[in-house]
This record gives sequence, structure tokens and C-alpha cells, in this order.
Amino acid sequence: MQLSRRVMSIQPSPTLAVDAKAKSLKAAGVDVISFGVGEPDFRTPAHICEAAKQAIDAGFHGYTPADGTPELKKAVADKFQRDNGLTYATDQVIINVGGKHSSYLLMQAMLDEGDEVIVPAPYWVSYPPMVILAGGVPVVVPTREADDFKLRIDDLAKALTAKTKAIFINSPSNPTGSVYSAEELKPLAELCADKGVYIVSDEIYEPILFDGRTFVSTAALGPKIFDHTITLNGVSKAYAMTGWRIGYMGGPQPIIKACAKIQSQSTSNPTSISQKAAVAALTGPQDEVERMRVEFEKRRDYIMGRLKAIPGCSCPRPGGAFYVFPNLSAYFGKSFDGQVIKDSVELSAYLLEQSHIATVPGAAFGEDACIRFSFATSMELIAKGMDRLEDGLSKLA
Ligand SMILES: Cc1ncc(COP(=O)(O)O)c(C=O)c1O
Repeated sequence: MQLSRRVMSIQPSPTLAVDAKAKSLKAAGVDVISFGVGEPDFRTPAHICEAAKQAIDAGFHGYTPADGTPELKKAVADKFQRDNGLTYATDQVIINVGGKHSSYLLMQAMLDEGDEVIVPAPYWVSYPPMVILAGGVPVVVPTREADDFKLRIDDLAKALTAKTKAIFINSPSNPTGSVYSAEELKPLAELCADKGVYIVSDEIYEPILFDGRTFVSTAALGPKIFDHTITLNGVSKAYAMTGWRIGYMGGPQPIIKACAKIQSQSTSNPTSISQKAAVAALTGPQDEVERMRVEFEKRRDYIMGRLKAIPGCSCPRPGGAFYVFPNLSAYFGKSFDGQVIKDSVELSAYLLEQSHIATVPGAAFGEDACIRFSFATSMELIAKGMDRLEDGLSKLA
């Protein structure tokens, strides 16, 4: 069987692969501490679970409209208005099977063969493969650690061509935790909108912000920008609901309608029960979201303190999300037991095998100097894991 060129041109998600490897080592009895997975370690709040139970008991288990229930679409439109100052009619809103599926659908709906999509690096691992699967060309634009990994306007200007259809902006960012201010984001968004380039604003880490920052939604930065932005969000990270698989988008109606058409011919609707749970998440009390945010900020402070003490390690201070992305390239070229560590893939493998900590190599995010640590794990495990990191790195000579 000759598999399609499309599927042969991508790799499975490296973050899920690291998680699978860490879980199989754990199953074999190895005490692995996982910094690999991008999923909150909290339980979904009780009132959200309760709404799902009620949905089952009430027999709410049939198909729903392919683009989501009117009730959830209204809750999403209300949320955009309330939290982001964005006015989307319900026909400008779609519910998808997770935020990952939202961006996948968008690429399928927007791209023709050879269309270019700008992907600032470090990027979320799934952006380039999604572009490729839609026949597009990811144009990776590196950013700099000294700029807190934020895109420079002159680098963006150089990357734009007549074929540029869209750009991914992800703030707070996975993997760097960097957060754009309105002043930083507006010129970039204006340039894109002026050139007719659509901005996919991935806002999935919206409520996880530190140091008193307020969230900036790209589409709120001006009317022309609004017309050229698709706002992507979901319940996975904000409400510890990764397994429920609900993402959503607001954007220009023709694009949203096109995504709904593809969804109707592929997955049909997102799970009916999860949609009821998502209504409870978006319309119910938000105090659990704040509780989790506070806990993430404490962990960010702790882990940054530990990283600072590691010789040769540098790391911008994350302004949000639950990742740190330290530059550990000072350890490349060093060796253990005669084995030279050349790059982030080998360093991450060494840390898993010798120190029993699971991390994701920066190469997976388009920045080989770094390694990603998710701090969506308990303070106790973070402390133990940082001891192991320090010890593992000190053994490299
Ligand atoms: C930047 C970013 N966008 C979107 C997603 C998708 O999340 P989900 O499909 O669980 O809603 C993730 C998950 O890791 C992410 O990190």
C-alpha cells in the first residue's frame, strides 16, 4: 500500500509521542517525572461535570447541528463580547472537536495548493503539519530569545509574499509562554490586514496570565483587523477539559461557514454531552479558573528560580500559559559515558533515560537551542524534577 504523499510528509505529534514514551516507562516501573504534556493536572470543576451528567440523564445524546448547539454558540458569542469586546453573531461562531481541530479545519477551508502561511518560531508543533495537510506551505519565521520570542515587524514584512494567505499568532504562547501587549501586536496585525492576510489568533491559553497582565484579543485591535482575524479558543486549558474535546472559533462568516461544511462531512458535531459541559464552563462561576491560574503562577516563579541557578541556562520569563522554554544549548557538545550530546533531541533523550524526566526537545517547536518543560504538574514533582535536571546536566562533561 502506497500511502498518500500528504500523510508521508508529516510526523506524528512529538508532544504526544513524548507523553506516550513517559507513560510506557512508568508502566514498566520507572519513576519518570513528566514535564512533557501540555495538559492541566487539575480536575474539571465539579459544576461542569454535573452539567454533563445531567445531559446524559436527560437523554441529550443525539446528533446536534454540525457546527454546534445554538445554546453553546450563544454562550461562545456572549463570552467573546464579555471577555474580549468582540461582537460575533452566532453565524460567525463554530464549535469544533477541540482547538486542534479548529485550526485544522481553518487550514482546510482557507488554503489552496501552494498558499503560504506564516508560522513564527518557536511554534506550536501542530501548525506546520496542518498547513502541509491542506496543501499549503508553512513559512517559518524565526524570532529571538532576546525579543522574548516575539515577531519583529521587519521579519514579518520580509516573509510576506503574494501567496501569503494567513499567519498564526499564539499568545500566550506554547512553548515559550510569551505574551504580546496591544502595542506589540497591533502593528503586526495592521500590516497583515493591510496586505489581506488573515490572522489566526490562537487564544487557547487566554486566562493563564501572570504578573497582573490583561489579555489582548487580536480581533479587538481595530475594525480592519477584526475583519481579517479568526479568533480561536477552547475549554481544554482554561477549564482543565482536555479530554472533552471542545474548541471554538469566531470569524468572518464565509470562513466559519466553510469550516462548518467540512465539519458536516467529516466529524459531524462535537460530542453533545461535552457541548452541555462547555456551556456550564463558559456561563458558570469562573473562580476555579482563577484558582488554577494562581497555582500556575506560583509554579512559574519556582521553576524560574531553579532554572536561574543552572549554569549556562537562559530563559525568558513566561508571561502566561504553563511552559518554560530554557535555552540549554550550552550543554550541546558535552558528553556522558563517551556519548556526545549534539542537539535538543539528544539532550531530551538523555534527560529521559538517565535522569528520568520527560521533556520535549525544542527542535519540535522549530528552536533547537531550547527544551520545553510543562509545569502542569505538582510543585512537589517540579521540585524533584528540577533536582534531577540539575544533577543530570552536571554529569555532562
Ligand atoms: C497553542 C495551542 N493551540 C491549540 C491547542 C489545542 O488544544 P485542544 O485541541 O485540546 O483544544 C493546544 C494544545 O496543546 C495548544 O497548545
